[in-house]
Amino acid sequence: MSTILIVDDDAAMRESLAETITDLGHGTVAKESGQAALDYLRTKRVDAVLLDLRMPGMDGIEVLKRIQTHADPPPVVVLTAFATAGNTIEAMRLGAFDHLTKPIGRQDVVDLLGRMLPKEVRSAGRSEQLNSDVIIGHSAAMRTLQKSIGMLADKDTTVLILGETGAGKEVVARALHAHGRRAQGAFVAVNCAAIPADLLESELFGHVRGSFTGAVADRKGAFRDAEKGTLFLDEIGDMPLAMQAKILRVLEERVVTPVGGKPVPVDVRVLAATHRDLATLVANKHFREDLYYRLSVVPVVVPPLRERRDDILPLAEHFLRLTEAPAKVLSADAADRLRRYDWPGNVRQLKNVMERCQALVRSPIIAAHDLELHTTAISTSAVHAEPTDLTDAVAGLERRMIEAALAESGGNRAEAARHLGINRQLLYTKMKRYGLSEAEASEIPTRDVGNDDA
Ligand SMILES: Nc1ncnc2c1ncn2[C@@H]1O[C@H](COP(=O)(O)OP(=O)(O)OP(=O)(O)O)[C@@H](O)[C@H]1O
Ligand SMILES: [Mg+2]
Repeated sequence: MSTILIVDDDAAMRESLAETITDLGHGTVAKESGQAALDYLRTKRVDAVLLDLRMPGMDGIEVLKRIQTHADPPPVVVLTAFATAGNTIEAMRLGAFDHLTKPIGRQDVVDLLGRMLPKEVRSAGRSEQLNSDVIIGHSAAMRTLQKSIGMLADKDTTVLILGETGAGKEVVARALHAHGRRAQGAFVAVNCAAIPADLLESELFGHVRGSFTGAVADRKGAFRDAEKGTLFLDEIGDMPLAMQAKILRVLEERVVTPVGGKPVPVDVRVLAATHRDLATLVANKHFREDLYYRLSVVPVVVPPLRERRDDILPLAEHFLRLTEAPAKVLSADAADRLRRYDWPGNVRQLKNVMERCQALVRSPIIAAHDLELHTTAISTSAVHAEPTDLTDAVAGLERRMIEAALAESGGNRAEAARHLGINRQLLYTKMKRYGLSEAEASEIPTRDVGNDDA
């Protein structure tokens, strides 16, 4: 059973959609405004969102934009009685799964769920949530890490979690929360890299109604949402400098000031993570030195998967067991290939490979070639193959890296761009150049939602 979030200001529409979806055996949650939906999504996961475009206050496009800044956004279908070329293109450009015109009949809902759910239920989002507090791994490195988590769980100290992309930083953050005194409180995660700089302050500290255009109601913000719980500041290395100063103050004084409001004391444990090298960012003046010292009192490092190869097979087997279907078995060759591979995308990449095999390999036994790891083994072979023309060789390498990153991220471009260390717009441009985006001709790469690096 999946959970579908319905966002519409029209009560009759909410009810009729909910009835149809419940009838089809799924759960529904209905919200009457964009803000209510966003507040809900801050702590809860859903498998899909049906979003009305025209709503008073925050419109559907704005809600869609903000949902897309989440680390692992659910598919969003935009529904409108007034489809225009403009809102259709804009919705699809912003990452909507589809754009449909009302009225939406029962058969439309059946088709829609059929298209969006099976993929989604198996994919990362769901199982990440369901298994968020299992940490698989008995390598020496993981045991050390588990011991640190045990020692730090009950404390209120700020912990800085460092590690390569996909290594398991969020898993560590969730474990610190789940095993500690604050486990009954909320775990609120904010991806600092994905939220536009001008929204970050209100996102974190909240705002008072009327303090700026669009502030139609009071908003508590992430710090106060995490009261008595844990706030996870993910990708803190990407936080704008002005915001860093404010965060430092909150950490020292334990008081937040909502935009347009008065200071409020907070009781929150803060965890932070980044895949960046903060010391270098400090040296380049992109990260405040005082905040760096404040955060790095207790650093926890999640080692890359290639440095703890004993964890590879237990993790692989764990991921094969995550689906309802009987788990497939790894052949000896496949197991060997997995152990020897370097895993640039770390555990996330391994998870994606296993999920793909579990879903697509026909036989109950997974062979080495089913892993398709050659696509990600970039190495320098591309260059060796075409030694005469440097430009072609570089283009070939670039194309392969992009294909590999897209494969690793399961087609999630924001994630692929992050893995490649480029911004999304540049990724779109390059995908177009290499003919990798013909399926999405409607996507016009003009402006980016996220506040990407590079
Ligand atoms: N030790 C582990 N046991 C089980 N699952 C894990 C483990 N480590 C990572 N995973 C899984 O791998 C995926 C990536 O982990 P996570 O999101 O914590 O990585 P991250 O370091 O935060 O990555 P990024 O830098 O890209 O944000 C998740 O689906 C997570 O559940
Ligand atoms: Mg993360």
